[in-house]
Amino acid sequence: AKTGQLRGKKVVITAGGTREALDPVRYLTNKSSGKMGYALAQAAAENGAEVTLITTTDRPTNYGVTKIFVASTQDMYEAVMAAFPTADIFIGAAAVSDFKPATLAQDKIKKQGDGGVTLHLVQNPDILKTVGHQKAPHQLVVGFAAETNEVIAYGQDKLKKKQADMLIANDVSSPSIGFSSDDNVITILTPDQPAETLPQADKLTLAREIMQRISTLK
Ligand code: PMT
Repeated sequence: AKTGQLRGKKVVITAGGTREALDPVRYLTNKSSGKMGYALAQAAAENGAEVTLITTTDRPTNYGVTKIFVASTQDMYEAVMAAFPTADIFIGAAAVSDFKPATLAQDKIKKQGDGGVTLHLVQNPDILKTVGHQKAPHQLVVGFAAETNEVIAYGQDKLKKKQADMLIANDVSSPSIGFSSDDNVITILTPDQPAETLPQADKLTLAREIMQRISTLK
């Protein structure tokens, strides 16, 4: 039998960067490796939770987790909407593309001459905001904020607008922390407690700290 503070809890986590297709061979994406989301999945599993990881990247796991592979924001949105109703905790660590190409070309886009190509992008659904606004009282919603400046102020803003119970703000301006790196520096924001910045550490260490804080809220 599982032991730990999240025993019996269902935790849904997103990881990796979404990929927005332009044509059959090209897509728009970002530098997210999925490491932060996988570290959170491991930390949740260590605490006894039943973990579903909705991810764009495949990384090794030697702990119990159900992986659901997705590519686009729309795919991730649909997978989260299917999993969320039975979840106790949702954690959005994925780097979700805010925009996608307005049309998906059937054939590979050809060179257009010296004028170049203009891409028309349209807004994607906001997964975190949707679950934040539809959560039931027993459900806990945790988001991330990737910022290059004013990390805490923008983080506080996202905490409110997306109606999250906790928001992990991270500075993504330096290559040694944030996207793709092994380490991160995070500030934990909640509606009621003062902001708490943790010193630079590897993502699993930080994920365990986050899970500790989450289990006190649950
Ligand atoms: O994967 P790694 O290489 O380990 O890097 C980790 C990370 C830097 C990607 C991670 O720590 C992180 O910050 N993830 C959130 C990235 C992001 O999309 O941040 P944002 O500030 O744009 O979005 C805020 C929150 O809303 C996030 O929880 C995001 O998942 C969510 N969101 C954003 C846009 C959108 N359309 N739907 C969303 O759900």
